[in-house]
Amino acid sequence: MCGIVGYIGHQQAVPILLNGLKRLEYRGYDSAGVAVYQGDSIEVIKAKGRLNVLESALAGRELRGTLGIGHTRWATHGEPSDVNSHPHTDASGEIAVVHNGIIENYIRIKQWLQEQGTNFVSDTDTEVIAHLIHHFYEDDLLSAVQRAVSYLEGSYALAVMCRREPDKLIAVRKDSPLIIGLGDGENFIASDIPAILPYTREVYFLNDKELAVLTCDGVSIKDEYGRDIKRDVYHVTWDIEAAEKGGFEHFMLKEIHEQPKALRDTMASRIAHDLSINLHDLDDIDIEKAGKLFIVACGTAYHAGVVGKYLIERMARLPVEVDIASEFRYRQPIISKGDLAIVISQSGETADTLAALRELKRQGATVIAIANVVGSTITREANKVLYTWAGPEIAVASTKAYTTQLLVITMIALYMAKRRGAMKQRNIDDIVSDIIKLPDKAQSILNGKEAVQHYAAQHFSAHSIFFIGRGLDYALAMEGSLKLKEISYIHSEAYAAGELKHGTIALIEPGTLVVALATQPELFDKMLSNIKEVKARGAVVMAVVQEGNTAIEDVADYVIYLPDTSSWLVPMLGVIPLQLFAYYTALYKGCDVDKPRNLAKSVTVE
Ligand code: F6R
Repeated sequence: MCGIVGYIGHQQAVPILLNGLKRLEYRGYDSAGVAVYQGDSIEVIKAKGRLNVLESALAGRELRGTLGIGHTRWATHGEPSDVNSHPHTDASGEIAVVHNGIIENYIRIKQWLQEQGTNFVSDTDTEVIAHLIHHFYEDDLLSAVQRAVSYLEGSYALAVMCRREPDKLIAVRKDSPLIIGLGDGENFIASDIPAILPYTREVYFLNDKELAVLTCDGVSIKDEYGRDIKRDVYHVTWDIEAAEKGGFEHFMLKEIHEQPKALRDTMASRIAHDLSINLHDLDDIDIEKAGKLFIVACGTAYHAGVVGKYLIERMARLPVEVDIASEFRYRQPIISKGDLAIVISQSGETADTLAALRELKRQGATVIAIANVVGSTITREANKVLYTWAGPEIAVASTKAYTTQLLVITMIALYMAKRRGAMKQRNIDDIVSDIIKLPDKAQSILNGKEAVQHYAAQHFSAHSIFFIGRGLDYALAMEGSLKLKEISYIHSEAYAAGELKHGTIALIEPGTLVVALATQPELFDKMLSNIKEVKARGAVVMAVVQEGNTAIEDVADYVIYLPDTSSWLVPMLGVIPLQLFAYYTALYKGCDVDKPRNLAKSVTVE
């Protein structure tokens, strides 16, 4: 949700800022802008639209300077427009600021500044920050920023520069992510690692309410009281190619194809040769005596949580409540000391999930985070962390993060089942030996992707597509439906198949496509009946079933067969054709697959 970059050093800032913004564009793409110290002034160039609009605006300009900040915006306050784009400056152009987050008390601050005679040019909350810093500025940028942020309520990651102090850049954060890249005679600010990876692998993660002062030669970090903090340098081990398309037309397609590897990497150190699951980090949690488990997440990660509820309740016989984080945080959940919780987040920065985590901890629950981004805020605040080793996920639509979240939660369910004595060891071993085979099976689905592409070619002009399923298939239906609607803009709903006739079946008309997931053996016959019900109303049915279930061919119009596996594990395979279907449908419709309208990758505002 908005991407920030900052550079101070010996190279020209503009190419570095633009390159960084390109790698952060997944965070928002309503507008983009840069501010560069040139001569004795701060030059700001910004434009509504994608980064290429800014690049064209810059093409005719000679913007030279070795200190600068940049921004790519996902609009919150103020419509996408040139004037609402970042960077924002104070009236005299002394201070320039880029911001990710929301300043909740900006109206009060704005009114107060207006009473002091300040003129505002934009509708954004961010502009107040530039004016406020300027208001407090007395030849010391650091103390002006410290004073200004003490008045801000809400969330912010800021990069600030000052015309009168061109030897420094300031970064400060609260509830929005920010990292500092450490170079040789140069230093960087960014919302996320890919932006600075071409230049350095050494980073500092800033914690909440911390501030960093960057010069060419060093970085000092301070806490909210201005005391110096010593921070360990984190060395990034993955390569820049992981954050590039590598020959695929879109990041989404690349990331769909990376799932076999992501699954392999995520299980690698956790399944031993004797098939035992080692999640040693959880060994000291009192799982045997736990009364309840909460799973909290947003969007796709929430859908992984719904699968987790089915698995943990059935395997480990532990009651599970699964919640959307934005609901959980305000519903006054009844949490007891000793309860367990799992929060799931690809980015590790989602504002609602982070707030839920804090609430769970405050009320005494032990919180396990399943997250993909190493060092992200959620991983630092949770009691325990289990990483999904999916590698950077750049496409806005989540794919490989979901499958690896499912894998981790399946391993947790089995681990808990063993500790609680809820399953026979033989049954656990059978499932684990199927888990090991998942990467190859995922690959075989990818090898047959043309069939799914063919179905998408026939249905991309649909107005409405329904996904139905029972049990784990219902959880999977939710994810299939979200994937389709978010990138193809086709209206779609996921329904528990047994619930259809309580309302939704009224929407089925001749020709409506229904994707019926029927992978669970004990529910297969029930699903056959539900498929017949929609067929009787004229629906066209695309069914997803396990290999060998040929009875489906009598009722469905198209069938996608999944390689045979334990029914508990099917969602990890079943989601792949649904992702491909969404991808090709969006492609045929001419949609911007990697950057769907109105969305951003990392939702750091509530
Ligand atoms: C959908 C999607 C979103 C995210 C959600 C949570 O494809 O990507 O629904 O799953 O915004 O994000 P994280 O997992 O980063 O907390």
